Formats: sequence, structure tokens, C-alpha cells
Amino acid sequence: MEILFNERSVLKTKPHPSELGFGKEFTDYMFIMNYEEGKDWFDPRIVPYEKIQIEPSAMVFHYAQADFEGMKAYKTTSGNINLFRPEMNMERLNQSNERICIPKFDGKFVLSAIKKLIEIEKDWIPEAPDTALYIRPFIIATDPFLGVRPSLTYQLMVILSPVGAYYKEGINPVSIYVETDYVRAVRGGVGNAKVAGNYAASIKAQMEAKAKGFAQVLWLDAVERKYVEEVGTMNIFFNIDGTIITPKLSGSILPGITRNSVITFLKDKGYTVEERKITIDEVFTASHEGKLKEVFGTGTAAVISPVGKLSYYNELIEINDNKIGETCKLIYDNITGIQNGTVEDKFNWIVTI
Ligand code: COI
Repeated sequence: MEILFNERSVLKTKPHPSELGFGKEFTDYMFIMNYEEGKDWFDPRIVPYEKIQIEPSAMVFHYAQADFEGMKAYKTTSGNINLFRPEMNMERLNQSNERICIPKFDGKFVLSAIKKLIEIEKDWIPEAPDTALYIRPFIIATDPFLGVRPSLTYQLMVILSPVGAYYKEGINPVSIYVETDYVRAVRGGVGNAKVAGNYAASIKAQMEAKAKGFAQVLWLDAVERKYVEEVGTMNIFFNIDGTIITPKLSGSILPGITRNSVITFLKDKGYTVEERKITIDEVFTASHEGKLKEVFGTGTAAVISPVGKLSYYNELIEINDNKIGETCKLIYDNITGIQNGTVEDKFNWIVTI
């Protein structure tokens, strides 16, 4: 399929690098492709970023048939543009599609469209440290219909946003609230898919935690309320006496691409990494015994974020004196180094545009 390019006459003013937050500004263009039953995916096009027309009865507004991905493009010092394991995002988006009955798309084709879009938008990729061009592919159900069934029409879109750090703390440790009232997902539900509704359901807990001074919540399993799952926008890792432990993918946890990369990286460095069930009690006991050396989260938006404080019921523990730990720093330097082209890509993770 040929990708049409509809050029705009006036380009936007780009934000100053010092003003970059997360996801506030959008570039000049976006990619769109439609789906209709019987026609498959069709009409791929790069068009000016602008409002889209959609009927109020579109199914996405009523039943949240929508999913998305988060990726980043990095500008290297030699002027290359790097993507980090983008084929995994395409694969995961199709897995999310499968879970909420959205028709699959050709991942290779959409990745080629993303590359084309980024090529056009390359001047939007910020170059300051810890900045990138965030890529948000997403799909919405557009059928104007109020019965509950899969939509017969969809729109796949890719928008771009120059970003800095996701957390206001940047690379400094964040404080996390262990959520004991609300739950995120159950096995058999949609917790392991990147669907929009997961995030809507998480906002109330996040707002309550924020009011108490925490950046995000750490979710526990929904059945026994004792096993650690994930943080709002990242997977979680614990360093207990030198062993790195992360909850195993149980069916209710998002299979993070950064999570997968960190596990591979650490194993290669000779660390013992355990993907297993871990209770919140084990974490707090390790802290009481002086064995909890580090806690950190991983995600595309969050990158590698040290956790400096954890609150569970009425106990607040401080980890590594609320400072970034050695392993976390090693991972941060290497993963971001690979992404930015300053560290050798020995795992073949980079796709250069
Ligand atoms: C990402 O890390 O890219 C995500 O999709 C998390 C997002 C909800 C901010």
C-alpha cells in the first residue's frame, strides 16, 4: 500500500527544549489508516495533525474499544535516528487487538509508516539529554452503533510528541503508594493488554495517592491482595541482597518491552534475575532486615525510575537513603546509552531510520 502525504502550508513553532514536559505538544503531522469490514486496513496517509471528525455514537466513546502503544525516537550525536525494539510494540499492539476484538494489522507496514512519519518530523526530535520524540500509535473503534459487539470500522493513528521526563522528579527517586483499596486487573481480564480502559480505571487511585504526596501507586494482585504487580505506568523491580526480582508475567501484568530489555541486560551482566511472585510482605521484611537495596520501575515513558519511598498501610520505608542505587544507575546509563547511540548495541535492539 502506498502512503499518501498531504503537506501543510505552515509549520508549527517547536517548543524550547527546556519547556518539554510529557505529552503536551504534538508535531505537524500524524499517520492515519482506516479499517472497514470486508476492506481490511486501507487508505494509509500522513496528514497534518489536526482535529478528527468522529460521530458521537462511535463505539470507542461508549465501550472503550481502544488500545495503544508507547515508543520513542532518539537523535544520536552522529545525527542518526534510533528506534528501540519497535517491532515488539507492533506485536504487542496486535496482541492487545486480539484481546479486545480489533482486527490485526501488518506490523511491518505500520512500522514502515512510522519510520516515514519520523523522517518527515525529524526536526522535532529533541536533542537535550533525557529527551526524545514520543510515538503514540493507537486504535479506536469508530462504528456509530450502540449495541455491544466489535466495531466494524476502526482508525489506527500515530501521533508524535517531543518529551522530557515523565515524572517531575526526572531521574531522582519517586515515592510510591502501595494501593490497598483499588485493584488494577485480574487474570483473565485485560491487565496484560495495553487497552485504554486499564488507564481510566487507574486514575482514581492515582489521584488519591497524589493527594497524599506520592507520584504513583503500586498495584497488588486483585485476588489475595498481597502479590506485587506493577506501578501505574511502569513495571517494577526489587534488588534484595543483590538478586533482582520482578513479578512474573501472570496474565494481569503488562509485558513491558523495557522490562524485557532490563532482564536481558542484567542477566548478560551476570546478575541473578528472578521473575516470580513476590509479596509486598517480602519486600517490607527485606527492608526491615536491611536487604532491600533498590527498587526501580521500567517503562518507555518512565525510562528507568528509581523508587525512593514505598508506603504500605501506615508504614513508610525509605530505600537506599532515597538515592538512585548502583544497579539502577547501571541500567539507566546502559539502556539510555543504547537508545542514544553512545553504548554499543550488543543485543541488536536498535532500528536506525
Ligand atoms: C509508556 O510508557 O509509553 C506508556 O504507555 C505509559 C503511558 C500510559 C504514559
